[in-house]
Amino acid sequence: MAAHPLRKAVAPHVDALGLYARVRAESEALAAPLSDADATVQSMPDASPAKWHLAHTTWFFETMALKPNVPEYRVFDETYNFLFNSYYESVGDRQPRPRRGMITRPSLDEILAYRAHVDAAMEQLIDSGLQRPLADLIELGLHHEQQHQELLLTDILHLFAQNPLKPAYRDPAPLPVVETPRETAYVPFDGGIIEIGHGGEGFAYDCEGPRHQTLIRPFRLADRCVTNAEWLEFMADGGYRDPLLWLSDGWAQILEHRWAAPLYWEERDGEWGSMTLRGFQPIDPNAPVAHVSYFEADAFASWAGKRLPTEAEWEHASLTIDMDGVFADGGAGRLRPAPAKAGTGLRQMFGDVWEWTQSPFTPYPGFRAAEGAVGEYNGKFMCGQFVLRGGSCATPTGHVRPTYRNFFQPDKRWQFSGLRLAEDA
Ligand SMILES: [Fe+2]
Repeated sequence: MAAHPLRKAVAPHVDALGLYARVRAESEALAAPLSDADATVQSMPDASPAKWHLAHTTWFFETMALKPNVPEYRVFDETYNFLFNSYYESVGDRQPRPRRGMITRPSLDEILAYRAHVDAAMEQLIDSGLQRPLADLIELGLHHEQQHQELLLTDILHLFAQNPLKPAYRDPAPLPVVETPRETAYVPFDGGIIEIGHGGEGFAYDCEGPRHQTLIRPFRLADRCVTNAEWLEFMADGGYRDPLLWLSDGWAQILEHRWAAPLYWEERDGEWGSMTLRGFQPIDPNAPVAHVSYFEADAFASWAGKRLPTEAEWEHASLTIDMDGVFADGGAGRLRPAPAKAGTGLRQMFGDVWEWTQSPFTPYPGFRAAEGAVGEYNGKFMCGQFVLRGGSCATPTGHVRPTYRNFFQPDKRWQFSGLRLAEDA
């Protein structure tokens, strides 16, 4: 039986404290290159200021773990519950999401002091020995913080992309470009009744279960993600101008926003480049395309005569390979998707880009949200969103699993979202 990371059999507090400290430090390391101004501005309603991410993840521990379990805990600042609650109706009113950028005070330094205050109390709590369900709640808090670490990076990218100077979050020197394209091969899978979803030991979000049976038909899955070079072909072939390729809601987005390329792409002197966390860079033709919406992914698949995989197909296929890939690695990674490695078999399933599936984010059979405020974590978003699988180059290393279900509305493009094609066998 796999050990619960927060309840190792020997020296129960050591691993728990280490894990807590590591995840908390990683958030601060990701924010370290940012000025107070960088960390305060909000570039759009979907994105949050880095300062808000740092405070909100701290608020989660203060509200869910400390207040109900530590009677002598002194709340750092009573006003923070309003400022840094995200969407928990059961925890009270909050600053409207599109106005998080108006929180110019407290300063970044004050938020770092808030983090230190909560960390001291949390370390004492963990050190006192944890039982379920508190250990599970703290583990959820750490996975929650890792989700916000990814958002911190994608939200900074969006913010910096609005700046005419196109500042680099990290190392502006271009990464080496792999010149040799690889042909796509399609890996066949049998149909039948399979099981998907989380059902065993180890952490998973509530929406990943229950494990259940589902029917799949024989299919083939591309051995790598769709590349930038292939996306350029789609553009050159008029992909963004042919309404017959598009879902009606997607075509409406094209008309409204004049989409003609993935988010962050810009043509300069006849060459396409893209804003990245390493500043404005040339397009790497053999790297996976990123920052495309579900609508674009679906239109591309139609153009290619293929389709997007279902999440059941994706999960089933992913179990045949190891979970290595390009992840954020605490901010030390490439922070850009990388071309597929040479070889045969499925590549890039984990890391690089989140892969849109054709599956709506709906409850699995038998799903029940957790009791209390944390029941608001996933269940209430099960409408109007699509599932993405596998993690990205901005996902913390070790954060995803084969059963992991990320979800966004079909028009969203600011995450590292790409696609892999599938077809019926
Ligand atoms: Fe959150």
